[in-house]
Amino acid sequence: MDSFFDIGVEPYYENRGSPVRLFQGDCLEILPRFMPNSIDMIFADPPYFLSNGGITCHAGRMVSVNKGDWDVSRGVEENHKFNLAWLSECQRVLTENGVIWVSGTAHVIFSVGFAMQQLGFKLLNDVIWFKPNASPNLSCRYFTHSTETVIWAAKNKKSKHIFNYDLMKQMNGGKQMRNLWEIPPPQPSEKTHGKHPTQKPSKLLERILLASTNEGDVVLDPFNGSGTTGVVALKLGRKYIGIELSQEYLNLTVKRLQDEFRTPRLQLNAVKVSH
Ligand SMILES: C[S@@+](CC[C@H](N)C(=O)[O-])C[C@H]1O[C@@H](n2cnc3c(N)ncnc32)[C@H](O)[C@@H]1O
Repeated sequence: MDSFFDIGVEPYYENRGSPVRLFQGDCLEILPRFMPNSIDMIFADPPYFLSNGGITCHAGRMVSVNKGDWDVSRGVEENHKFNLAWLSECQRVLTENGVIWVSGTAHVIFSVGFAMQQLGFKLLNDVIWFKPNASPNLSCRYFTHSTETVIWAAKNKKSKHIFNYDLMKQMNGGKQMRNLWEIPPPQPSEKTHGKHPTQKPSKLLERILLASTNEGDVVLDPFNGSGTTGVVALKLGRKYIGIELSQEYLNLTVKRLQDEFRTPRLQLNAVKVSH
């Protein structure tokens, strides 16, 4: 098995012969174990720091915006220090031409973008992910939140990043793919093994991985959650490393991955995107 998986930490999950490893713990402690220049691509869906006693609407009901202790704000400066710390480790482990994608709302994305500039990443695009059926705004004092930003950046100014331009154009009906992506939230079929409060849709990860990686590339997600990045990475023939604090979410990931091992790999010409 590839040596980049050997970091001197017992994986929480490995499946003999398969290109996937899950590690339980704080990514600030686990990332430093990886060799420099060993990861081709990182997708990170970090804490947005928005679980601060607010309310939102879910399935027509008023519910608390409490995603978990991991999502509570530590104050603007501490939040930014945290973002600088994990982004700096991500930059170290990326290959010279490696890229990172980071999702976020206004609560976190400006800090992430500023930290990337401080660290010398090359900003490639800010993609706007539009959620067509976003929950209504209960207070009626704001516009309805219906987007997230996903920043795409390369390790540094010299990086020659992969962009599968022709495939993106083909997936967009023969026209250049723009940076506004309309993708609905995860489908019920993606939640059959349990729920994660901030699960990303597979379609989002599919587009990200197809745009910026090739088969056999090593993909890492330092905030694995329910393992969406891993499930899609395996489906597309990439290798995957996930890091996650919570055992509950790791167990959910394992169930999703095991399902994936039972189904045939996605054929590229079967990939369709929604507009
Ligand atoms: C926004 S969620 C990711 C959701 C994921 N993209 C999905 O589709 O399921 C962030 C996850 O990171 C985990 N987490 C928070 N802080 C962490 C840390 N310092 N190290 C590792 N995992 C962390 C949380 O437990 C949570 O599951």
